[in-house]
Amino acid sequence: MKLCESEEKELLELEAQYCSYGDTVHYLDKPIIFERCEGSWLFDMHGKPYLDMQMWYSAVNFGYRNKEIDEAYNRQMTKLPQVASQYLHKEKILLAANIAKETEKRLGTKGRVHFNVGGSQSIEDSLKLIRNYKKKSLMFAFMGGYHGRTLGATEITSSFRYRKRYGHFSNRALFVPYPYCFRCFYGKNRKNCDYECIKHFEKLFETEYYGIIDTKDNEVEYAAFYIEPIQGTGGYVIPPIEYFKRLSAVLKKYNILLVDDEIQMGFYRTGKLWAIEHFDVKPDLIVFAKSLTNGLNPLSGLWAKEEFINPQIFPPGSTHSTFSSNPIGTAIGLATIEYIKKNDFEKTVKEKGNYLLSKLRELQQKYRVIGDVDGLGLALRVEMTKRDGFAPDRALTDMIFQEGMKGNIEMDGEKYGLVLDVGGYYKNVFTLAPALTITYEEIDLFVKLFEALLKRCGV
Ligand SMILES: Cc1ncc(COP(=O)(O)O)c(C=O)c1O
Repeated sequence: MKLCESEEKELLELEAQYCSYGDTVHYLDKPIIFERCEGSWLFDMHGKPYLDMQMWYSAVNFGYRNKEIDEAYNRQMTKLPQVASQYLHKEKILLAANIAKETEKRLGTKGRVHFNVGGSQSIEDSLKLIRNYKKKSLMFAFMGGYHGRTLGATEITSSFRYRKRYGHFSNRALFVPYPYCFRCFYGKNRKNCDYECIKHFEKLFETEYYGIIDTKDNEVEYAAFYIEPIQGTGGYVIPPIEYFKRLSAVLKKYNILLVDDEIQMGFYRTGKLWAIEHFDVKPDLIVFAKSLTNGLNPLSGLWAKEEFINPQIFPPGSTHSTFSSNPIGTAIGLATIEYIKKNDFEKTVKEKGNYLLSKLRELQQKYRVIGDVDGLGLALRVEMTKRDGFAPDRALTDMIFQEGMKGNIEMDGEKYGLVLDVGGYYKNVFTLAPALTITYEEIDLFVKLFEALLKRCGV
């Protein structure tokens, strides 16, 4: 047995004994140990290359080991790698100012930024901010939405599976159907539905007996609506272009805040800094994480309009976490923003996304089990179905995913693995989030590898 094989075997035995299975590692029949990464590629302990089409669920938008961003890490390590979040350091201030100014440019509103260490933690902070301002604790959120796994974030995340082991969630959100038009909740067709879903939502405000509003003074029991502009875990579902404008009009009418969760779709995944920019609405709060540091350091944050977050209303110590604005994270975050400004991702992401989408559409023409493909920028979906083009095929999706991770797809004399992520309400959607720096050759290779997997799985 080769040295790497015996080491791998030993490590997997230790993992089986000492690591919790409560995370997501064991979604794969045989967990893989990765050893190296570069650009769009991961390499296992045997040196086998895996083309990564999910980039740590969009936490590494700018490619693995991006030199310009990594340099900030090295610089900060030699200068000020540690300092309590109670004190200031330059990078924190500059990063907050940069994000606030870039957001102000886009939304026309002044705001402030508040940091934390993970997406869920910043969602918690946003919940506190809203509860403090509105003195209410109930939220609307979407069916199929995902906002994290801490207790508060779980209350506004629709899947019951995430709650069922943990008792009663008293502030469980009211979950509203997302405009998942391929499988419309109301059985309508996008072409002529006239936004029936918005009408259903607005109907809730008609009488106090629908449990939302006191029509005598128009007070609503719900403080805010949490949205993902494109659902991430829900399967990269892209709403019709006017949807959020119409939703936002209803929310404004009833004085309900709009919270935009950009944790997965922010930082140019869709070709804009914030994905919500595509839809021409102005959220009250934006929550972000993941690619803020290109996956190098857990750092997250929120942006809120001045009126919700100014120091009079949200005073010192309103929330705190030891590592919340840690100097390594903020230095990398700042380098990420500078890197973004130097590159025209608005243009390249759109072009690469359109190219990949056209290739996916060609595959859809060839294979009846691809029921739907769609994309915005480099957030793309491939929905796998039975041959009728509609009934979800979870087993096939899982088989393709598992085969991709075996690392043995032969192509042009080389062996490759393909890293795919599975999402969607029926776990039958490949949610593609390649590096925004992916090359056209790599996109072509992906299409060939994916087709090889389809054939291997008997499609
Ligand atoms: C849209 C969205 N919100 C929140 C989260 C939670 O972030 P984290 O996993 O960093 O806690 C995620 C994570 O995937 C996400 O995609």
